[in-house]
Amino acid sequence: KNISIIGVPVDLGQTRRGVDMGPSAIRYAGVVERLEALQYDIEDLGDIEIKRPPRREIAADTNLKNLKEVADASERLAAKVDETIKANRFPLVLGGDHSIAIGSIAGISKHYESLGVIWYDAHGDLNTAETSPSGNIHGMPLAVCLGLGHPDLINIAGYNPKVKPENIVIIGARSLDDGERKLIREKGIRVYTMHEVDRMGMTAVIEETISYLSAKTDGVHLSLDLDGLDPSDAPGVGTPVIGGLSYRESHLAMEMLAEANIITSAEFVEVNPILDEKNKTASLAVALMGSLFGEKLK
Ligand code: ARG
Ligand code: MN
Ligand code: MN
Ligand code: MN
Repeated sequence: KNISIIGVPVDLGQTRRGVDMGPSAIRYAGVVERLEALQYDIEDLGDIEIKRPPRREIAADTNLKNLKEVADASERLAAKVDETIKANRFPLVLGGDHSIAIGSIAGISKHYESLGVIWYDAHGDLNTAETSPSGNIHGMPLAVCLGLGHPDLINIAGYNPKVKPENIVIIGARSLDDGERKLIREKGIRVYTMHEVDRMGMTAVIEETISYLSAKTDGVHLSLDLDGLDPSDAPGVGTPVIGGLSYRESHLAMEMLAEANIITSAEFVEVNPILDEKNKTASLAVALMGSLFGEKLK
C-alpha cells in the first residue's frame, strides 16, 4: 500500500491556539520513519495552505466562528484528498482541529458508494449552529457530513450529504450536548459511549463495529480525535474530558482494525503541542498509526 500524508494546520474550528502546529508535532514524533519501517511507500505532501483571518470574528449572518476560512480550508483539503485517492494512495490526514474532517470526508466519500465512518472521540461533533454551545466548528463536522449545517459547509466539493447515519459508529463518547443526543436518537446513529466500552470491553466493541460496517460499506474512514483517549495519555488536546479510552484499549482497537483490513482512509486530529507534555500526544498519535498500519502483523 502507498500512503500519502497531508498536513492540515487549522486552528480555526475552535478558540485555543496551537493546534495548527499539530502536523509539525506529529512529523517531529517520527510518523514517516515509523510507517516506512512497515515497508509502505510514504509520500509527505506537506501542509495544505491555510488562509488566516487577520482578526478572529464571527460572521454577521451566523454564530459560526471563522466560517469563511474553515470552508476555504475544507475545499482545499477535499481537492487534495481527492487527488490522493485518484492516484490510488491511502490518504493519512494530520490535524489540525476536527473541523478538518469536513474537507477530508468531502474528498473521500465521492469515491465510495457507501462510505463508513468510525468516529473515535470523547465528543459527538454533531452540533449545528442552532445546537452548538460554543459556535466552534470543530464540534460540528459529523453533522455537516450528514447534511446538517451551514450551506457553505455541507456543500463542500459540490455534493451533499456525504455519509448516511447508519454508516457511522462513534466510539469513546462521554461529552454529548443535548442537541447531539437528540440527533443520535432521531437518526439511529450507533454510539459506544464509555459506558458500553467499560461493560463490553474494547474487543467486543470493535468486533461489532467491524461486522456492522462491513455488511453495508465499501470503504471505512477512521476519524480519530486524540481527546477520545484519556487526558492522562493524551494531555495535548484543547477539549480534554476525563474518563477516556486507555492507551492499551486504543492500541487494541487499531490492531483489530488492521487485522480486519477495512480502513481505507484516516485522520488524526486535535494534537496541540502547546498544551502537551514533551510531545506525548503526538508520539501517541504516531504509535497508534503504527498499530493501525499493521505493526503487530509484521
Ligand atoms: N460539544 C462541544 C462543542 O460543540 C465540544 C466539541 C469538541 N470537539 C472536538 N472536536 N474536540 O463546542
Ligand atoms: Mn473530541
Ligand atoms: Mn476503561
Ligand atoms: Mn472531535
